[in-house]
Amino acid sequence: MEFIRETGYLLSALLFIIGIKYMSNPSTAIKGNFLSFIGMFIAVVCSFFYTQVHFDNIWFILFAILLGGVVGNYLANSVKFTEMPQMVSFFNGMGGLTIALIAIIEFFNNIGNRFFVISAGFSGVIGSISFVGSMLAMAKLWGFFEKAKKSSLIRIFNLIILILIIIFYVVLVLNPQQIVGISSFYLLVFLFLLGGLLGLSGVFPIGGADMPVVIALLNAFTGLAASIGGFAINNNAMIVSGTLVGASGTILTFLMAKAMNRSVFSVILGGFGVTKKEEITSKGSVQQITPEDAAVLLVYSKKVIIVPGYGMAVSNAQNEVHELEEILEKRGVEVKYAIHPVAGRMPGHMNVLLAEAKVDYSKLYEMEQINPEFRNTDVVLIVGANDIVNPAAKNNPNSPLYGMPILEVDQAENIIFMKRSLNPGFAGVENELFFNPKTRMLFGDAKETLKKLIQEIKNI
Ligand code: TAP
Repeated sequence: MEFIRETGYLLSALLFIIGIKYMSNPSTAIKGNFLSFIGMFIAVVCSFFYTQVHFDNIWFILFAILLGGVVGNYLANSVKFTEMPQMVSFFNGMGGLTIALIAIIEFFNNIGNRFFVISAGFSGVIGSISFVGSMLAMAKLWGFFEKAKKSSLIRIFNLIILILIIIFYVVLVLNPQQIVGISSFYLLVFLFLLGGLLGLSGVFPIGGADMPVVIALLNAFTGLAASIGGFAINNNAMIVSGTLVGASGTILTFLMAKAMNRSVFSVILGGFGVTKKEEITSKGSVQQITPEDAAVLLVYSKKVIIVPGYGMAVSNAQNEVHELEEILEKRGVEVKYAIHPVAGRMPGHMNVLLAEAKVDYSKLYEMEQINPEFRNTDVVLIVGANDIVNPAAKNNPNSPLYGMPILEVDQAENIIFMKRSLNPGFAGVENELFFNPKTRMLFGDAKETLKKLIQEIKNI
């Protein structure tokens, strides 16, 4: 039995690793996802091969697996693409909660076992932080708690909670059985409640624009918790999968932080980079362009760079973007895509959408690669992007965006901005690029406007 289980776990670990490798490229990502799914399926099946465990509640377990599968399947099929980050946050939070619950439930099988208390206590605290933090992050992505204020009081509060957690953890580890009248079980639960409180107060003051870093960090926390929880209950599949999630989450956290020019340390302390909605002060008048004129400008260009953003996802315009690219290329125009690391609402958001529309991956350029090319570009077509091209990130030290590297579209000869209004983007910051003499606003829903644009190009 043990041989079957451990061999199965080894196979699933291999499938997870190959799956992650495949996911690093959009052309193989679906295969990678499928391999990881098979790996997880094998791991779940092998978890039944524990000789020392009596599955007297087997029907209850199977029912829970079925219920979870049905709900997960429904959510994955019904979620709107723009709400994917909320779903990722929700699933991540569920992972954290599960690990804390495993620690609590397994406590009675391990009374007096110091190794269990060390590992389960630690993983449960991290799991609780991750659960509450992820739920709050999800609510924030839905636009709740926008009025949260940065305050040094909250940092002090976080520090006090952290110190309390460390004290109670040490007490628990030193006395795994009984502590002056308090049962260590209640102490474990109290520790997890403190962890939840830290998740709440840690994420609460963080502004919406910094959410990508927070979500990646919480993801890394859940992975770490699962991995240590695996040690507590001696489950190799949990150790391996938790380590993979923890490691990839950590790498992603640093990549996101670098992309937004934030320090990860300040994320851990909580309360940096609060997004405040700026007063929108008009800086002159904007120039508009009609689809007819935009079509002429595009067709007679040598080189066009398309900058997709969150608005393309909202309007589901990726297929029209691809059609425009093809039609321009047939007319001899060179077309490239500029992909900002935090465009949209989740890592790789634009890559996934464009891959879905069958855009050739070799045409997608990352920020560092494409920035030097803008100065030789005739037209930059911004499709529903805003913050990622906002010069305030470079020019205005008071802006919440300040320090975030941007796509330097203002270097191009002409800028066409496709959006519905002069409203700001996610960070709530006015974009002075709207008022740049090189900029023409092409107002309207991205999908509808692209259809008109394509028709106008066909008419030329
Ligand atoms: P945003 O700055 O959010 O701008 C998107 C723009 O799309 C809006 O200004 C909006 O203007 C326009 N829009 C919305 N619906 C549209 C439609 N149907 N048709 C045309 N335009 C539409 O997006 P971005 O430039 O991609 O920047 C991403 C932002 O999200 C950054 O601040 C980033 O930090 C944050 N964020 C990113 C992530 C990740 S990991 N990618 C996660 C969370 C948050 P109108 O309303 O005027 O149309």
